[in-house]
Amino acid sequence: MKALILSGGKGTRLRPITHTEAKQLIPVANKPILFYGIEAIKEAGITEVGIVVGDTHQEIKKAVGKGEKWGINITYIHQEAPLGLAHAVKISEDFLKKEPFVMYLGDNIIKQGIKSLIKEFRENTSDSRILLAHVNNPRQFGVAELEGDKVSKLVEKPQNPKSDLALVGVYMFRRHIFEAVNNIKPSWRNELEITDAIQYLIDKDYQVNYHIINGWWKDTGKKEDLLEANRIMLENLKKRIKGKVDKDSKIYGRVDIDERVEVINSVIRGPAIIAKGSRIINSYVGPFTSIYYNTLLEEAEVEHSIIMEECKIIKIKRIEDSLIGRNVIIEKSNFKPKAYRFMLGDSSQVGTI
Ligand code: TTP
Repeated sequence: MKALILSGGKGTRLRPITHTEAKQLIPVANKPILFYGIEAIKEAGITEVGIVVGDTHQEIKKAVGKGEKWGINITYIHQEAPLGLAHAVKISEDFLKKEPFVMYLGDNIIKQGIKSLIKEFRENTSDSRILLAHVNNPRQFGVAELEGDKVSKLVEKPQNPKSDLALVGVYMFRRHIFEAVNNIKPSWRNELEITDAIQYLIDKDYQVNYHIINGWWKDTGKKEDLLEANRIMLENLKKRIKGKVDKDSKIYGRVDIDERVEVINSVIRGPAIIAKGSRIINSYVGPFTSIYYNTLLEEAEVEHSIIMEECKIIKIKRIEDSLIGRNVIIEKSNFKPKAYRFMLGDSSQVGTI
């Protein structure tokens, strides 16, 4: 069995971060989202992995390499444009070579992993097995209608949903999916939709069954989803102090301070994680905060946020519920007249007091 991870796409909902960076590499609890998927696949015993990449291919290849870090083999498949999830399957036919495979959306995190799902699929002869979860707002998802142990219909963002079972970003297929992706037509948004491909299987009497997950999962398309994923992943954090914490600082609860971190005269209240080379000086870091590498916090207060690498946050009180990209500088200015002074990328969002 092989795996196909989708890591192309546009990431429009995470602009401006995604103007310059792949959304799948945004760190959640200081680990790129994509790595959670790779680990889940490896844990399920799959070692032949294809990654579909688009405009951000260089960055993804740099972060993931050939897969040696995980003991797997990675093949990159270039998608000329984000023409849909089923299009990604279509262009991967040569790599998949009609073998059964699991397709995993590279921006999804499934806390319990996928080991048991893969086992079920391997032991079963169905043509496809999809992952479903009960949701409160089915109108915002692809929704499945069921008949016994089979899926009878899939509807994309239904006005009147017949169930509350949404499609989660993990799908298992056998070779008939290629017949489907080669026969469906692009949707109104000009994408080859995976829901149409699965519906094709159902209509042709191929067997599509399902697994309902009870554990936590997230499709990290928006800032709020990333902060939630960060919160959930930090719940598992264990206390670990590798860096230097001076005697004037206080560390409460589960805090992970990596090597070469310096904490000076500051308070850190976990769960919180701080990566290599970051410095926290005269500052407060509150619960559910992840600070990536080489970032400086000086006379600043931050809580419930993701701050990425190489940032400088100086004399700022106080930041909450924020996602801050790489190399960002936020600093109190001493110029007159007193004013906010910005240099923000397209689609930035600022919330002031
Ligand atoms: P989506 O979140 O559906 O799309 P997107 O990444 O373009 O984001 P947005 O809606 O904010 O513009 O994509 C799910 C995953 O699949 C994500 O990891 C990107 C990937 N993908 C591809 O690799 N190729 C594609 O053609 C599409 C549509 C998505």
